[in-house]
Amino acid sequence: LQIFACSASRDLACDISQRLGMRLGQLDISRFSNDNLRVQIQDNVRERDVFVFQSFTEPVSEHIMELLITLDALRSASAQRITAVIPYYSYARSDKKDAPRISITGRLIADLLHTAGADRVLTMDLHADQVHGFFSVPVDHLTAVTLIVEHFRNRYDLSNMVAVATDAGGAKRAGRFSEKLGIPMAIIDKRRVSDTTVKQGYVVGEVAGRDVVIFEDEIATGGTLVSSVDTLKAAGAKSVHAAATHGVLCGPAIERLRNAALDSIVVTNTVNLPAEKRLDKLTVLNVA
Ligand code: R5P
Repeated sequence: LQIFACSASRDLACDISQRLGMRLGQLDISRFSNDNLRVQIQDNVRERDVFVFQSFTEPVSEHIMELLITLDALRSASAQRITAVIPYYSYARSDKKDAPRISITGRLIADLLHTAGADRVLTMDLHADQVHGFFSVPVDHLTAVTLIVEHFRNRYDLSNMVAVATDAGGAKRAGRFSEKLGIPMAIIDKRRVSDTTVKQGYVVGEVAGRDVVIFEDEIATGGTLVSSVDTLKAAGAKSVHAAATHGVLCGPAIERLRNAALDSIVVTNTVNLPAEKRLDKLTVLNVA
């Protein structure tokens, strides 16, 4: 077995290989003067069972290209089996044709991974479970729910807690979370206005006087979260916590979260967060 990391997931791959008592394989990623990428595998991978890590974080297109080229190089170097480990598969959000003449890019990238040489994919908490079906290779779809549940069990009194889904699409996910914690759940009625803003109205379920935990797959610009906090506070919530697998925290997210009336935020390290994005109220759990 051999583990490699492209540039978006080095810390996580390093942690995992250390836990396995292995040395991380060496990749040389460079750029030609015309901006083309070049990847050279520095270890012999002939007949090896290879895992290559890369989350689709900013710059997303660059990171996807890096992974595709690495998969192709591994296949050319006669690796026996290649697993693309993509802790955060950002294009899972492009999972349907919700406007005319657009691409279902989540499926396109799945095809490209297969074409490039991935025999398997290992990923975590896809935006929608059915994205799994976009892949023509076997997928191990892992979840961080257990880790997040443990975090809440160890830290909070659950007797007054309610899990909240920020929209109907997230109800199943929040339902699984609430079930594991043994707490009730509520759902907010959400409409997306644009990529960075949402509009919310009613809360279905009891949140007045309760400690609520908003449970999401990801926090991207923080628009959904901030709007949810306002909606829940207006409905009488006593305290508001947020939990998500992927702390993407892009665009205005940090400013929004800093100013939001949130008691705590917990995400995992499927996305590598630089020091300047580590807010005081933010806990990052390790999925290694
Ligand atoms: C939406 O369907 C997702 O579950 C998240 O709510 C969304 O991706 C978060 O995006 P943002 O933080 O930009 O509102």
